[in-house]
Amino acid sequence: MAIIEARKLTKIFGNDPKKAIPLLDKGWSKDKILAETKLTVGVNQAEFSIEEGEIFVIMGLSGSGKSTLVRLLNRLIEPTAGQLLFSGQDVMKMNAEQLRDFRRKNIGMVFQKFALFPHRTVLRNAEYGLEVQGIVKKERKEMAMRSLELVGLKGWEDSYPEQLSGGMQQRVGLARGLANDPDILLMDEAFSALDPLIRKDMQDELLELQSQMKKTIIFITHDLDEALRIGDRIALMKDGRIVQIGTPEDILMQPANEYVERFVEDVDLSKVLTASHVMEKAETITLDKGPRVALQFMRERGVSSLYAVDKSMKLLGIVTADDAARAIKENLKLEDTLMREDIPIVSPDAVLNELFELMGNIRLPVAVTDDNGRLKGVVIKGAVLAALAGNTNVVTEGGDNHESA
Ligand SMILES: Nc1ncnc2c1ncn2[C@@H]1O[C@H](COP(=O)(O)OP(=O)(O)OP(=O)(O)O)[C@@H](O)[C@H]1O
Ligand SMILES: [Mg+2]
Repeated sequence: MAIIEARKLTKIFGNDPKKAIPLLDKGWSKDKILAETKLTVGVNQAEFSIEEGEIFVIMGLSGSGKSTLVRLLNRLIEPTAGQLLFSGQDVMKMNAEQLRDFRRKNIGMVFQKFALFPHRTVLRNAEYGLEVQGIVKKERKEMAMRSLELVGLKGWEDSYPEQLSGGMQQRVGLARGLANDPDILLMDEAFSALDPLIRKDMQDELLELQSQMKKTIIFITHDLDEALRIGDRIALMKDGRIVQIGTPEDILMQPANEYVERFVEDVDLSKVLTASHVMEKAETITLDKGPRVALQFMRERGVSSLYAVDKSMKLLGIVTADDAARAIKENLKLEDTLMREDIPIVSPDAVLNELFELMGNIRLPVAVTDDNGRLKGVVIKGAVLAALAGNTNVVTEGGDNHESA
């Protein structure tokens, strides 16, 4: 089930904000509404749902409504209209006590300017949110210590922020956001103030933390590379509206409009797209079949080789048409002529850059297998070239996916 669901979630700033709602329905732009009513559209009828354990990135230019949207999610800002559900529960209908509980137990927040208190130790900074919530000293210390350990700051609890590097300070901010072990972590430009190398480390660390803890993370950034690296899905905002929601690949390969296109035009696809994006279905055969059947399969499917797999799709080798013909002539089993060595294999996460290098030296298509050696698909050179040219159609139209084997 979705952990968060927003339906036409809207925030208008100014006097008598509700009077802008019918104007939004009429399709008035943010500029027009401001000019005619002096009201500012913060978020315009946002519709989305976020799955548990997902990293959901919100991107957009300055003023597009990212921070407002995130603050609507824990009602730090009251919506002007629309609906918000947390695990199916209506957040708008929560009374003061329920809302306090919701924020205390379910939500953590990390900000851009780590907002650390200089005169508090690292531990007392990490404890801060718990303290505000009135959690007793012993318990909050334990919780904060656990959280500091999680972000790799064990041993630093008695230091002061000024004794820490920028990256470490941001870890304290992260520890503070995680201290109450929330279901949802809201991160507003959390890494934007870090210099590039440290920033990349923090991204890796967040991904690592995420894989251990399975939190739902809502991450705001205006940096496309960051969004592509960490986002399971990305929502792009413009003038308060969400103009596209999709996986990084969706955003790159099928930008919904010119605004999104301009966002992604400078991206180096070869470093972002992966084998799983360009792979096609592999033609396979199991070894209980004979060489005649193999040749028949190849003819029917218009390919010149097949991947031999077992029943669990584990890759065993390649059967070529030549080998199958030889097996028939010499009365051999398929197994006996199977090519098992030197099969190019990559993982689904291999980026096109790696694939491209690999493909330069070999004539075979590249098999894509998971960690357990199961065949997921096959990549042919044409598909890689087409993807790099930004053309997905060519990738899926190809009939013969073993043509070079
Ligand atoms: N408290 C407020 N009162 C009036 N208008 C506001 C308020 N907060 C935000 N806005 C307006 O709402 C719109 C969205 O602002 P928001 O801060 O959400 O943008 P953002 O995408 O987070 O930008 P940035 O990348 O600069 O942080 C802007 O037009 C802004 O001027
Ligand atoms: Mg902001």
